[in-house]
Amino acid sequence: MQVGPVAGMITGTGLSDTLTDLVVHQMFPYSGLPHFPRATVDSHKGCLVQGSLNGRDILVFQGRIHLYEGYSPELVTFPVRVLQALGVPMLILTNAAGGINLNFSAGDIMLIRDHINLTGRNPLAGPHEESFGLRFPDMTRVYDADLSRRAVGVAAQEKIQLQSGVYAGLLGPSLETPAETRFLKIIGADAVGFSTVMEAIAGVHAGMKILGFSLITNINNPDAPEQTTLEAVVETAAKASEKLNRIITGVVGQLA
Ligand code: HPA
Repeated sequence: MQVGPVAGMITGTGLSDTLTDLVVHQMFPYSGLPHFPRATVDSHKGCLVQGSLNGRDILVFQGRIHLYEGYSPELVTFPVRVLQALGVPMLILTNAAGGINLNFSAGDIMLIRDHINLTGRNPLAGPHEESFGLRFPDMTRVYDADLSRRAVGVAAQEKIQLQSGVYAGLLGPSLETPAETRFLKIIGADAVGFSTVMEAIAGVHAGMKILGFSLITNINNPDAPEQTTLEAVVETAAKASEKLNRIITGVVGQLA
């Protein structure tokens, strides 16, 4: 039996309020947390919430820190290290992403099966802190198979179409050129964004089970490129996040 929160979650762009079923117990603005970086993007709230979801104790970092804000990989993964220090065994990561797979539609949810780190950064580079984890952590199973199966099951029960695929994490903040989108498709990406991979690497290092979702806010077709705006991304994310709420709430309810 887990003592303390069963899961920690870090929310993506426009997804701070995804968990409408969360019963809030305490809220801690990032600005009041020692050493904690500020979320500098408006679409990220910047608040740690302690609450209960489907009867389970969880911690939600509403709004994440990105490399493109100028923060180091160590600061981007600070929330993961806080969860590690608290002994939280499971990490839920959400993001807004562009669809590379042309079978996807805007508003789809993609279960992250694997990722490609194209940021050129790594939160484990630098002096090795042995108490945090291994020097060379294995990355063959970043996203937990059992949790992923549960997510697929809940989605089926809730009659939510759940896509699955590979997330490519870029540094950003400039969006992809059509040539870059073509490249991402060739190397096996289904979705692209500017987050998640740092936290997932730190989560593996910390021995946490990871469940990841991309909310596809736009489709990047290199042969018919359409312009993407932050406003459109946030609007689509907010509209589709109710599906994400049901899936995550269902999975968390199954945790011991
Ligand atoms: N590219 C990168 N990040 C994104 C996108 C995109 O097309 N859409 C939402 N986040």
